[in-house]
Amino acid sequence: MTSPRLSRRNLLIGSLGVAATAALAACSGGSSQTGPTPAVTRPFGAPAPIQPSAGQQVVENSLVARQTTVDLAGQQVSTWAYGDAFPGPLLRANAGDFLRITLDNQLPADTSIHWHGIRLRNAADGVPGVTQDPIRAGEKYVYEFTAPDPGTYFFHPHTGVQLDRGLYAPLIIDDPHEPGNYDAEWVIVLDDWIDGTGTTPDDVLAKLIADGGPTAGGMSGMGHGGMNHGAMGTAPWGDAGDVTYPHFLINGRPPKDPQVLTATPYQKVRLRFINAASDTIFSVALGGHRMTITHADGHAVNPTEVGAFYIGMGERYDAIVTLGDGAFPLVARPFGKTSGGQAMAVVRTGSGSAPDADATATELAGNVLIGSQLSPAESAKLPSRAPDVTVGLSLDGSMQPYQWGMNGAAYGANKPLTVKQGQRMRINVQNATMMTHPVHLHGHTFALPSGLRKDTVLMAPMQSLAIDLEADNPGDWMIHCHNIYHAEAGMMIALKYA
Ligand code: C2O
Ligand code: CU
Repeated sequence: MTSPRLSRRNLLIGSLGVAATAALAACSGGSSQTGPTPAVTRPFGAPAPIQPSAGQQVVENSLVARQTTVDLAGQQVSTWAYGDAFPGPLLRANAGDFLRITLDNQLPADTSIHWHGIRLRNAADGVPGVTQDPIRAGEKYVYEFTAPDPGTYFFHPHTGVQLDRGLYAPLIIDDPHEPGNYDAEWVIVLDDWIDGTGTTPDDVLAKLIADGGPTAGGMSGMGHGGMNHGAMGTAPWGDAGDVTYPHFLINGRPPKDPQVLTATPYQKVRLRFINAASDTIFSVALGGHRMTITHADGHAVNPTEVGAFYIGMGERYDAIVTLGDGAFPLVARPFGKTSGGQAMAVVRTGSGSAPDADATATELAGNVLIGSQLSPAESAKLPSRAPDVTVGLSLDGSMQPYQWGMNGAAYGANKPLTVKQGQRMRINVQNATMMTHPVHLHGHTFALPSGLRKDTVLMAPMQSLAIDLEADNPGDWMIHCHNIYHAEAGMMIALKYA
């Protein structure tokens, strides 16, 4: 039965359904079509409605995707967003709830929504051409799925490079049985920003391909062998990114107009970090504090105290921090990027002058944790089992020319990986490039050799890593680099159930 819940959580997501009545902003510069002209055939048709099971809570909401104009510290940027702001409205439910989310596509282009990290039914995974038809301009589409696992997630289109516009928002799945031993909770969404600053992500991608790689920012493509130690423990990890961004944002705000997060001294806060950037790995620290990391991509880890940590595109980390008394910079420093500054928010519990836009956190100069070195909580371990099937997955390509692929060819030309339901699958991932790539798997989580559960993992240049997954969610799924420019240039492959 459909019963909208009247809880605190519902209040938090209530604004999702509010479609502003203001006329569509007449925007310039945000209207280029994404991707090639779509085929006319619509093999998937309208999504078949499904029903929640008896007693299952239903969380219903709607989103409007459309052009809007947003102020970034005085610069007006025209972009595409959910509900006229980025990040879009927080969506929240309990583990086991049935989500029914309607997307109203008022963009001048096709779109879709992918629920990043959720082990959902295949038909709701949001990949046009693989799990659904593209959602055309002016159309509505209803996503219905159960969110089985608690954790910090987000959602974004799986259409072209739309992720690099303002189309992203946090999705929190709560564990109703978790004690929640903290006083406050802050969701911290990181992003790199270029849209509406005289270019669009589509133009950026076209230029990368036309120019055969970046022409600004000192990138040189292949050949940083001297930095490469072939393992994740030795950052820097080769070339950092392909795009020179003018802004880096925390919760949609640049450091010159930072979000101010307020609390009282000595309060314990749960921070939920989401990296929604398209081309930027960040190192993150809260000046004057140490944080205890509790979850990686939603999965519990053995609590680990750090001064700073890396977060790749598509990764999420939860941390607990006990706040000091004063005003502190929460800094996300783009890894390996020399222009565009940093992302910053202010944490204020007392008096004291606000940190400058370029304030540093001394913690960033110390040891910076790499998430794959965390150890899994016992409860989060994938039960050990010998693999029934083992396959290889190479990450291939180069910046010059700007060509990326998996298993020797670009997506579409490469051969899907296959698995049978019930099998334990091992994927031996080999990064055969000189860049670091965040590798993301849809519809499942995988275990690293340590047992750590993730759905997105940073792979250093030339690094090899075996990831194991339980083939318990039939359908056609994607594995891809979460650098959206790499993905669009071919660094994707399908995982199909035979
Ligand atoms: Cu967040 Cu297929 O990606
Ligand atoms: Cu990549």
